[in-house]
Amino acid sequence: MPTIRHKLRFLLNDETVELSDVSPTETLLDFLRLDKRLRGSKEGCAEGDCGACTVLVGRLTGDTLVYESVTACIRFVGSLDGCHVVTVEHLADPDGALHPVQQAMMDFHGSQCGFCTPGIVMSLYGLWMEKPQPSHAEVETALQGNLCRCTGYAPIIRAGQAISTYAPVAQDRLVAERARLIERLKALHDGARVEVGSGRQRLIVPASLDDLAEIYAAEPQATLVAGSTDVGLWVTKFMRDIGPLVFIGGLAELHGIAESDAGVSLGAAVSYTDAQDVLMRHFPSLADLWNRIGGAQVRNMGTVGGNIANGSPIGDTPPPLIALGARITLRRGSERREVKLEDYFIAYGKQDRQPGEFVESVFVPALPKGERLEVYKITKRRDEDISALCGAFRVFLNDRGAVGMIRIAFGGMAATPKRARAVEAALLDQPWTAATIEAAIPEFATDFQPISDMRASAEYRLLVAQNLLRRFHLETTGETAQLERVVA
Ligand SMILES: Cc1cc2nc3c(=O)[nH]c(=O)nc-3n(C[C@H](O)[C@H](O)[C@H](O)COP(=O)(O)OP(=O)(O)OC[C@H]3O[C@@H](n4cnc5c(N)ncnc54)[C@H](O)[C@@H]3O)c2cc1C
Ligand code: FES
Ligand code: FES
Repeated sequence: MPTIRHKLRFLLNDETVELSDVSPTETLLDFLRLDKRLRGSKEGCAEGDCGACTVLVGRLTGDTLVYESVTACIRFVGSLDGCHVVTVEHLADPDGALHPVQQAMMDFHGSQCGFCTPGIVMSLYGLWMEKPQPSHAEVETALQGNLCRCTGYAPIIRAGQAISTYAPVAQDRLVAERARLIERLKALHDGARVEVGSGRQRLIVPASLDDLAEIYAAEPQATLVAGSTDVGLWVTKFMRDIGPLVFIGGLAELHGIAESDAGVSLGAAVSYTDAQDVLMRHFPSLADLWNRIGGAQVRNMGTVGGNIANGSPIGDTPPPLIALGARITLRRGSERREVKLEDYFIAYGKQDRQPGEFVESVFVPALPKGERLEVYKITKRRDEDISALCGAFRVFLNDRGAVGMIRIAFGGMAATPKRARAVEAALLDQPWTAATIEAAIPEFATDFQPISDMRASAEYRLLVAQNLLRRFHLETTGETAQLERVVA
């Protein structure tokens, strides 16, 4: 049993914060605005969409301290133990001189009503520290999760590209003082389990993976929180009483990434951002999908493990992962078992996960040479939108030009992410021709009876799914090479 600390500890700008009395569901935004009276960060939507509440959170990994933009409205204070929170109030000099990011935004007319501005400044700041000379596309990507309804984005992007003309990034406070900040954060990491509050009003930060296994096996009714990009909304939008909360996002053992010829293994708390490089190296055709999962803040916080564990029928990672034959490792106490991802989803809201069992890791087998994988995400707008449907197609054509293997998986077409087995059966062993595709198209109705909802009608979903198979076929034959890949 590890030592238990009854205080949460983190840095907020220059201050060391110690909290022995905090609700497990208190959001960082409420803490900043209501408790700390730091009102630069704004509340626009309270659901992670608009970016008005963006702050930076610095995370220590070994000797490296990385700052990422996050949405404070759906980030819980309990997830911040050992982190450095940086808000817009930390930017200007004490004498009032604006920070280069702020000055650029002013000079390039990047702000009108100003409501979005603190969030945009923080997103640009995070980008500038990583990429002092960002391209137009890199600024756009960093701002995917920041909405501005008056200024228009062109001046903001110009400001984002001009920051380094005001000062070199090496002079920035967070960069210049990095070594000192690392020492301050290291001093907060004592290897203890954190427990604050009592009963359902308790927050727990396990000391290690084994500690998590023990805690969750003993209290299977607790809510696990990884990136909180789903759980945050249960609190801010649905006012659900979900305590006690166990924060697993900071557990180093759940952040492991391993790659080999056999495939890629990701710890359950690896974020979309951290998984990006390795996954794109092995599966480059996932790039378009990956860049369209949420905005930068959601990708910095959200995890692949959370996307799987939540069992949502419209999560974006299950379709490609099922097509690739991914397997997950589930753990309860010291017991582990491996499950094929496609078997994990049983019915709406029901997964093959026992009380006290959690997702420990995901293994994605390498794509064998000669196979082709494509994924298509269909949304109403390009950026930061949940899929109406998402289809993944993987095919191997044998030396006779016939379908030697095919796997097709969809999200948004059924109560769970699901393979199109009847369509697959109609294609298997057949010549890979337009005639074969057309003969298989009616089988979509055997596989799927989609619902109509605010994202799309049932008819639209079925028709688009069929058209995506046609598109995949055309792409494999090189006939759509010139097509814009965005389907909106
Ligand atoms: C603005 C916005 C945009 C979004 N856009 C997209 C999108 O484009 N595509 C998409 O697919 N999703 C999207 N989402 C949803 C969300 O980001 C993803 O589902 C994300 O992967 C959830 O991961 P998380 O770590 O934040 O999970 P959390 O919110 O922390 O947890 C989600 C669920 O999984 C459980 N859980 C988490 N980790 C584990 C584990 N290791 N073992 C067992 N249970 C666990 C939690 O208890 C909870 O039930 C969006 C969300 C927001 C707020
Ligand atoms: S208030 Fe809109 S993202 Fe947080
Ligand atoms: S300046 Fe008004 S919303 Fe951006």
